[in-house]
Amino acid sequence: MTSGNAERSAVLCVGRIYCDLIFTGLSRLPVLGREVFADALTIAAGGGAFISAAHFADVGRHAALVGRLGHDPMSVVVEGQLGESGVDLAFLERADDAGPQITVASVIGSERAFLTRRAGPAEPATLDAALTWPKARHLHIAEYATLAEMPDLVTRAKASGLTVSLDPSWDDALIGDQALVANCRGVDLFLPNLEEAREITGESVPGAMLAALQPHFPSVVIKAGGEGAYAGTPDGMLHNPAENVPVTDTTGAGDAFNAGFVDRWLSGDDMAKALAAAIRAGSRAVQVAGGAVRQTP
Ligand SMILES: Nc1ncnc2c1ncn2[C@@H]1O[C@H](COP(=O)(O)OP(=O)(O)OP(=O)(O)O)[C@@H](O)[C@H]1O
Ligand SMILES: [Mg+2]
Repeated sequence: MTSGNAERSAVLCVGRIYCDLIFTGLSRLPVLGREVFADALTIAAGGGAFISAAHFADVGRHAALVGRLGHDPMSVVVEGQLGESGVDLAFLERADDAGPQITVASVIGSERAFLTRRAGPAEPATLDAALTWPKARHLHIAEYATLAEMPDLVTRAKASGLTVSLDPSWDDALIGDQALVANCRGVDLFLPNLEEAREITGESVPGAMLAALQPHFPSVVIKAGGEGAYAGTPDGMLHNPAENVPVTDTTGAGDAFNAGFVDRWLSGDDMAKALAAAIRAGSRAVQVAGGAVRQTP
């Protein structure tokens, strides 16, 4: 490998950045005309792009977040947290119409209800500079919603010589999109969870889901929570069980898994080794609270 190629190892994570207001300890979900009190409130930088980038940084991979922030107080809070994450912020655009971009999450046990306000266009003015950055090697799209808002994102990344991975991340309005697979054309590595793969393919077992997706994507991995994950290879299906660990909070486990997998895949490891690294990253993530926090276990 030349020194030029050795430099080219960073991952770009593109997408909307949110300020998540997470209310926990509720007796019931809010209803019209009633007040519900929460035991606790956490304010955290959110959105799949940031959470993924933080997990890439966590496994030691240079990751740059490509997104937009406003000048409002919520954006200021978010920016402070981004600064502590280890993520490269060189491609953050600041614009008045990019905030406040907020998600209110009401959490009861493992159930969550979300209320979100999207502000301004999704595409950052920094996108072209990021895609042509000499250190950029790979684009990770953490949500199909990002591609729905920037339909030429994969084409532009490929034109810059980047490889591309995509996690659909369930979105009620988009997961049933009949054109989802076609719109993901050019994606090298497709990373749905079991529920998403079932909805996209109409199949009910992992082997059949992989068989339906493999003609469209060079590599496919299906995450299955406490069951671990499945990967398609030319020689058949690999299955790695999840580790038997104490589960504190599964938020961000999928993003941690994706970062663990893509990091090894970019380093040239085979599917089995990448899958093992991804399971380790997922296991670490479920043992700590929050989506993008520094992992200690
Ligand atoms: N209950 C669990 N016990 C052990 N490991 C788990 C558990 N849940 C998730 N994991 C680990 O995290 C990985 C990814 O989790 P999961 O399959 O829930 O992804 P996801 O549905 O995309 O998650 P997300 O909610 O972040 O979108 C799993 O493959 C596994 O390694
Ligand atoms: Mg997911």
